[in-house]
Amino acid sequence: MTQAGSRSAAPTETADPRDPRGLRSDAPLLDAWLRFTAQAEAGLLNPMAVPGHKQRQDLTGAVVGGDAPLYGALDTIKHADVLLGEAEDRAARLWGADWCRFSVAGSTHGNQALALAVGSPGQEVIVTRCLHRSLLLGLVLAGLRPVWVLPERDAASGLPAAVAVDTVRAALASHPQACAVFLGDPSYVGTIGDLPGHAEAAHEAGVPLVVDAAWAAHLGFHPDLPPHAIAAGADAMVTSAHKALPAYTQGALVLARTGLLDPARLDRAFEATHTTSPAGTITASIDAARALLARDGTALCARLLGLAAAARQRLARVPGVDVLDGPGVEPTKLVVLLAGAGAHGNAVEADLIAAGMPVEMADRDTIIPILTIADDEAAVERFTEVLVAAIERHRGAPRPPVPSPAWTVTPQMALPPREAFFAPNETVGADAAVGRISAELVAPYPPGVPVLAPGEIITAEALAALRAAHAEGGRIAYAADPTLATFQVITSAP
Ligand SMILES: Cc1ncc(COP(=O)(O)O)c(C=O)c1O
Repeated sequence: MTQAGSRSAAPTETADPRDPRGLRSDAPLLDAWLRFTAQAEAGLLNPMAVPGHKQRQDLTGAVVGGDAPLYGALDTIKHADVLLGEAEDRAARLWGADWCRFSVAGSTHGNQALALAVGSPGQEVIVTRCLHRSLLLGLVLAGLRPVWVLPERDAASGLPAAVAVDTVRAALASHPQACAVFLGDPSYVGTIGDLPGHAEAAHEAGVPLVVDAAWAAHLGFHPDLPPHAIAAGADAMVTSAHKALPAYTQGALVLARTGLLDPARLDRAFEATHTTSPAGTITASIDAARALLARDGTALCARLLGLAAAARQRLARVPGVDVLDGPGVEPTKLVVLLAGAGAHGNAVEADLIAAGMPVEMADRDTIIPILTIADDEAAVERFTEVLVAAIERHRGAPRPPVPSPAWTVTPQMALPPREAFFAPNETVGADAAVGRISAELVAPYPPGVPVLAPGEIITAEALAALRAAHAEGGRIAYAADPTLATFQVITSAP
């Protein structure tokens, strides 16, 4: 195979317009990607290895343009690990960690890797019940038994606040064999908790604190932003570079400060569920995003903070509209609350999509746009005005908010998730499923927080809340029957 060959990151080329900010001198994977794709575009390669498109765009077309595997393109198959390691070390240093891996499978993979890294099958872990479905499946893979801790609730909106430190302390005290604490911070709705307090509680119990910070890759890079989880004392964090940073879709970082976590075990856990063919394009974009944060992060986050503050102020002038705010809320997160304006979030979302402005999440009472360091004043102002106009178009009588079932679930666990996942099951009508044990995970998506986890009793309340979310136009994900007419339940003993 024609290969880019082993090399250090030091660039020798003149400026490349494909690297407009000149990041390659501090980004070894980006530098390698720029070299390889330049060769491919110049027709200099005659590859006799995967990928099967062989850098041709006359078959499947432009959709494969820029694709380059890590192994065999960014560097030789024999040397690419060294290059990758250089890039991951730079990220570890930036976040103050001593172990870092780049994932091409999102925080989904990172959560599962961390679940596989902390204990052994049958052990208990303290876990927020606001967890993303990826972590729940991580518990299934690892055979860990969750001890659920519930977040506090924002009284006005019903949205989840953080899990209280006392709640975690109490869980650790009553489950002294638990091997880790898993929290999500910031939550999907941007609420933030006392991570230093959680780290202290976990460490007093001798166990690691692991944080799903999927939405928070920018935290810690400006004095007005909360610190990131590692700086706050967590032992590990996962974050999606593709969410908050300008990286390719699926790019994520898993970071750890080892001690309570073993680096070799972390590596094994990471590799167990990662592809053997990581996309060099994705890993190079994580490297580029890291180099950008290291150099320009403070200025870019300052702009982002200003944009979010301006959008908050504009939305606060719209009668009936609120934006989640306060010291417990990540300042760049905009969670727009519509109940007081009577507009239906799905109708507002449809107008935004029609205007070419898709948002991250919408349900009846909430719209969540994502602002990142890639946004500028013009983009956010345009969006805010279109949003305000859409709210006015759909304005109605104020109503009390009804929080998504994802935020109101009170789980009744009958079996650990792994046992339930593998247990014999049958399909029954929805009404007959009440009181039975769920074999499946059912989650309105977004946010992807399970309302039913494998092993939990299907309560009348959970069924009613899921039906209401479905009737309001929400997508019910992962259920075998997303119409909710039937459920998969554990087969009753004869
Ligand atoms: C809290 C949380 N964790 C993990 C994930 C999974 O992230 P990814 O899409 O990068 O796999 C998500 C996705 O939305 C999430 O909201």
